[in-house]
Parts: sequence; structure tokens; C-alpha cells
Amino acid sequence: MATQPLGIRLEALSAVFRHERRGDVTAVDKLDLDIRPGELLTLLGASGCGKTTTLRMIAGFQPPSSGRIRFGEQDVTDLPANRRDIGFVFQNYALFPHLSVFENVAYGLRVKGIGHDEIVRRVGEGLEQVGLSGFGERMITELSGGQQQRVALARAIAIRPRVLLFDEPLSNLDAKLRVQMRGEIARLQRELAITTVYVTHDQEEAMAISHRIAIMSEGRIAQIGTAEDLYQRPVSAFVAGFLGGANLVDCTVREVGAGSAVLDVDGLRWSLETPATLSRGQRVRAVVRPEALELARDGDGLACQIESMVYLGARAEYLIRSGERCFQVVVSNPVSNRLFQSGEAVVLRLPGRNVALLAQH
Ligand SMILES: Nc1ncnc2c1ncn2[C@@H]1O[C@H](COP(=O)(O)OP(=O)(O)O)[C@@H](O)[C@H]1O
Ligand SMILES: [Mg+2]
Repeated sequence: MATQPLGIRLEALSAVFRHERRGDVTAVDKLDLDIRPGELLTLLGASGCGKTTTLRMIAGFQPPSSGRIRFGEQDVTDLPANRRDIGFVFQNYALFPHLSVFENVAYGLRVKGIGHDEIVRRVGEGLEQVGLSGFGERMITELSGGQQQRVALARAIAIRPRVLLFDEPLSNLDAKLRVQMRGEIARLQRELAITTVYVTHDQEEAMAISHRIAIMSEGRIAQIGTAEDLYQRPVSAFVAGFLGGANLVDCTVREVGAGSAVLDVDGLRWSLETPATLSRGQRVRAVVRPEALELARDGDGLACQIESMVYLGARAEYLIRSGERCFQVVVSNPVSNRLFQSGEAVVLRLPGRNVALLAQH
């Protein structure tokens, strides 16, 4: 029967590679991370930030330079990969092209010495779970990329792993299939409740499937939280700029109230509801999302000029300027709104709430 999902703990985990030309490269830098039992946690970050190396250390494919890895109470740092009970899904599927679908899914079960009847049952179950019932006798080369990735997924779950690991599993699929497959991976993960670490550089994919996201930069975690935590309450300019569009508005605190403040932006009074503890005269950097801004012909706000406008049907994207300041503004459903053209004078309305404030250094 299904066992209880287990948590994973990374403690000061590091990986240093020796390069002939680059010298020592610290791919993962004293990383601390708690992955909760049954959750799907995504490591999100740009290429080279250490996602794959972290995943390979959890799998046991790559020994850490220092630090510990725990599965539940068990320290698995020195345990070989084949004794960690993990299912791994790679970007390039890593299937055996000369074997049938059935034999590919059965592979891990045969290695474990499981009996014939049980193998037939589990392979059938695995193929059904990924929507490939009846495909057992096909050869891998007869399948599309999406079907091959489903086989890889069936193979990973057939062994009933304690931990599921995904490294950019959808990168080789076309856009439409990526959206469909990510939905299926999320559904299956919720159903099986297997603790899962998922690696991607695609922010929308991460937001769509994860319980929590850890944004990585230079071998460390820049911030961890739900998609909404990270989008609404980024703790740094890096995170704000990484996830979605962000206007970083430097301003000064003019008045402080209970749960509110008045900021000064080039002489404009900006009243804001905010839980932040502020002091008068303090310099802050406000993170304002492009879709939280409004453009008007007149009224209160910052006097700006339209630099450019891109019409995208469902939305219009503006670049506007006020002196030295530039803003990205996204207006949704622009059909019912008046479209502004480049060169036009507009008034920019700043939002009264849901703005993260970063301390300025
Ligand atoms: N086996 C390796 N040998 C040497 N350097 C490596 C090796 N694996 C990764 N690196 C280096 O470690 C850094 C992080 O790589 P990686 O974990 O693959 O990043 P990501 O998956 O986020 O793109 C990069 O600078 C990469 O060149
Ligand atoms: Mg990688």
C-alpha cells in the first residue's frame, strides 16, 4: 500500500567543480532547503544557476562537496542512487530505443527483482496513469516526443519511488503539448502524493504546477514560497525582475500611518496601504507590476509620455516615460479601453495597495 510521503532536507549542500579554464566553479553554494512531505517543489532559475546539480545530488548521481541530504529521518548522503528509491524523469527521456514500451516501463521493476505477474500489473497501471494503455507492444521509435515522455513518466512511477525528480522534462516538446503535459504531471503528482522536486527555467510552468517555488541564483536560493508569495511579495529586486515584469520605483517615505504610508515620487503624493514598517525620510524601492498601473487622459497621477505601444489583442503593452523614469504598463482587454499612441501625453495612476516595498541601499 501507499507509504507516507517523506520530507527531504538539504543542509548546507555544496557542489564545487574543478575546471581547467574557469578554475573552481561553485555550482551549488551551501544550500539549505526543506521539501515538505508530498509537495511538488520547483527549482526555478536561469541556465547555469545550479538546478540540475542540486537535483543530481538529491538523486545520488553527483556526490556533494560538502553538506548533508536527508530523506525523512534517514541520512542518504552516502547512499548510492540505486538504493535511494527515486524516480527520475530527464529532459531527453533517456529511454531504451531498442526495447518496447512495456520493457522500458518494466526495466526498474526487473532490476528490483519483482515477479512477472506483479510486473505486468504495475506496468499496466503505470501506462494507464499516463494515458498510454494498450501501447505496451509499441517500440519507442514509433512514438511521438510527448508519448515518449509519458513512457518515461510511467517508468519513474512504476517503481513506486519515495521521491520523484524531474529535470526540464517538457523542454523538447512544442508549446501546446508542454501546457497539456504540465497539467498531467501536476494531476498525477497530486494523486500519488509523492514528494517531488521539479527543475525548470520556465516561470509560467513553475507557477502552474508547484506547491512552492524556490528561485535559484548562483547556487543559492534567492526566495522560496508559493507563486503568489513570490509574485506579490518579492524580497529583492532580483526576484521581482525574474518573475514577471516589474517596475522598480525608487521613492521617499513622506508620511507614515497605521498600515499605510504616503510616498513621494518626483513630488507626487502616493498614498499606499502597506504592512511595511517605515520611517519618514526613508528611501524605498516599490515593486509595481505592469498590470497594476493605469493610464488616463487626465486627473491625478504622474505626467508621462507614451514611448511605444504593442497591441497584442488580449492586452496592450506600453513603455512610457516621465523624465528619467520608465514604466512598463500592461492594459488588458484594450478593445474596450482607449488606446494611446506613441508620443501622446498621459497620466499614470499608481496602485493604492498590493505593492511590495524593498529597503534601498
Ligand atoms: N559535471 C560538471 N563538471 C563541471 N562543471 C559543471 C558540471 N556540472 C555543472 N557544472 C557547472 O556548474 C554550474 C551549474 O550547472 P547546472 O547545475 O547544470 O545548472 P542549471 O541546471 O541550473 O542550468 C555551471 O556553471 C556548470 O557549468
Ligand atoms: Mg539544468
